[in-house]
Amino acid sequence: MLNFLNKKKNTEMDSLFDKDKPIPKHIAVIMDGNGRWAKKRFMPRVAGHREGMNNVKKITKHASQLGVEVLTLYAFSTENWKRPTDEVDFLMKLPVDFFDEFVPELIQENVQVKVMGFTEYLPEHTKIAVENAIEQTKSNTGMILNFALNYGSRAEMLTAINRIIVDSKEGNIQEEITEEVFSDYLMTGMLTPTLRDPELLIRTSGEERISNFLLWQIAYSELVFTEEYWPDFTINHFEAAIGIFQARNRRFGGLNETKKGDEA
Ligand code: FPP
Repeated sequence: MLNFLNKKKNTEMDSLFDKDKPIPKHIAVIMDGNGRWAKKRFMPRVAGHREGMNNVKKITKHASQLGVEVLTLYAFSTENWKRPTDEVDFLMKLPVDFFDEFVPELIQENVQVKVMGFTEYLPEHTKIAVENAIEQTKSNTGMILNFALNYGSRAEMLTAINRIIVDSKEGNIQEEITEEVFSDYLMTGMLTPTLRDPELLIRTSGEERISNFLLWQIAYSELVFTEEYWPDFTINHFEAAIGIFQARNRRFGGLNETKKGDEA
């Protein structure tokens, strides 16, 4: 693992970020470690989630200013319902507070809010907050801030498959199911074809798992795992992760230019 966040290596790794090099168009983040952040400070877990929410504001603003086109944030998974009721209630209230406090700034930043997930199962107040934010920012033309809320990748794929079966039976699909067609049926299908798959996936808090997030879409994403808990993940850490992406050699299963030359 690239442990780029300890003090010694921080400067070295920060320097990988080059604002003149291409920035990943779509960045996805598994915002992990809120609970541990709070525990370390002898605070209740929900205090970590609130601090995590404040960090969403900072990272969103910075991503938009760097020119990221889509920022997808894993805010609540289909498995998170298993947590204690108090915590689930708090997490379901967070979008209400977040959008109340932050929509004016999102409008100022020209950021468009989107939400993917099984939103029909969200409590009414969460649904309303989300729908209002989508409506209020729908004419913005800048970065898409895409929240994964009650999202799970396996369920997303099964839903897509079942919709494909229904559409086939009804005669609405004549063509073969290609990767592009399948991608259209996924929740990220609402993004443009060039933006659907994240180029970079970041997970904070030292865990190195994907946790049922965008399993299809990350087939060729660069993965960066950081030690920092989400509330401690600063814009410098964000840039450092982009720097690691910029330094990597993405081949998509092919050969890079040097290798091709070597072979010749
Ligand atoms: C994982 O940390 C985090 C979550 C399940 C919730 C993420 C939510 C936020 C960062 C705030 C979202 C903000 C909005 C606007 C919806 P964890 O609780 O599993 O941490 P732990 O592994 O340390 O216990």
